[in-house]
Amino acid sequence: MTRPTPRIKRIAINTGGGDAPGLNAVIRAVTLAAINRGWEVIGIRDGYGSFLGGEPIVKLTRSMVHGISALGGTILGTTNKGNPFEIAIKLDGMKRARPGAELVVEGLRKAKVDGLIAVGGDGSLAIGYKLMNMGVPVIGVPKTIDNDLMHTNVTFGFDTAVQTATEAIDKLHSTADAHDRVMVVEVMGRYAGWIALHAGVSGSCHVVLIPEMPFDIAKVCGHLAARRARGRNYAIVCVAEGAYARASGPMFKTPTQKGRERRLGGIGEWVAHEIQKRIGWETRSIVLGHLQRGGSPSTSDRLLGLRYGAAAIRLAAAGLWGHMVTFNPPNMGHVPLEEIAQRTKRVSIEGDTVLTAREMGICFGD
Ligand code: F6P
Repeated sequence: MTRPTPRIKRIAINTGGGDAPGLNAVIRAVTLAAINRGWEVIGIRDGYGSFLGGEPIVKLTRSMVHGISALGGTILGTTNKGNPFEIAIKLDGMKRARPGAELVVEGLRKAKVDGLIAVGGDGSLAIGYKLMNMGVPVIGVPKTIDNDLMHTNVTFGFDTAVQTATEAIDKLHSTADAHDRVMVVEVMGRYAGWIALHAGVSGSCHVVLIPEMPFDIAKVCGHLAARRARGRNYAIVCVAEGAYARASGPMFKTPTQKGRERRLGGIGEWVAHEIQKRIGWETRSIVLGHLQRGGSPSTSDRLLGLRYGAAAIRLAAAGLWGHMVTFNPPNMGHVPLEEIAQRTKRVSIEGDTVLTAREMGICFGD
């Protein structure tokens, strides 16, 4: 969808899905770059909540985005439950519930916005694509700590999450050493092993398990037993939440539910249990969980968030609606939104980081 540019007066921005460090930097860049072009910016709260009975839209001003790049979370709020294409809502004064998506389109029209900057992961970008097909001009900004979005080299939030996970692993070394134990740390990442691989290798783990390489638990235990036989008194295992043993599938904490993504989890505990049972080495497990999404973004994520946000406004000014901003170092680029949906960028098992890990003697259990 290419639209003439001179008519832009007001744009909207929202943040959807799980939060990621750097979201506020995107909001700041979008707001300032738009205001500097003479446009107005409104923020939609909690995904599309402002049009679905939630907090009202808010006008974003220079002072509202002052100093926010350093903050974690998102000043607009977010949700991973409010897919407007899967809910119907009866707002005050309505005779019947209406499809959420209709309310969103109507809300944007009433707010007189010329386009929407949708900041989110694959789910939110798929919503953006569907809204575009209902006539809303949309530009997507890729967001996820998981780094699993296609066509973009790295998403903001990933660097901070890896940093948090690496710091945690650094700390686990000393307690594992003190107690002669194996420590298993489960990290996030959904169906991609980027966080586990980068933090596991940087944190000098001895075993790294990722979804791209279904593992053989006997090989993991064999590797650890051999390490112990060499006189080493402790070991660290980093497991991606989506990793799984061959012949089984990923482990989930929640059942399948319409409109909700299943929550992965439990594999770290299972691996720890198997290690202790099979080779008799005392083992503990820890799940880092949402710590990886919290806190102040790293310098790299702040800059990346600002770059993504500014690039989104350049796309809007150029009339390139229907695209997602991409980062292809050293430049920003763009790709049609329909090319993003339902595709996951996974770790290349022949890639250099995996090769480096193997050279270090790290075991993938494959
Ligand atoms: O996609 C980001 C992410 O943090 C995943 O790594 C994780 O599986 C999921 O979100 C957790 O979501 P929730 O916040 O619903 O627990």
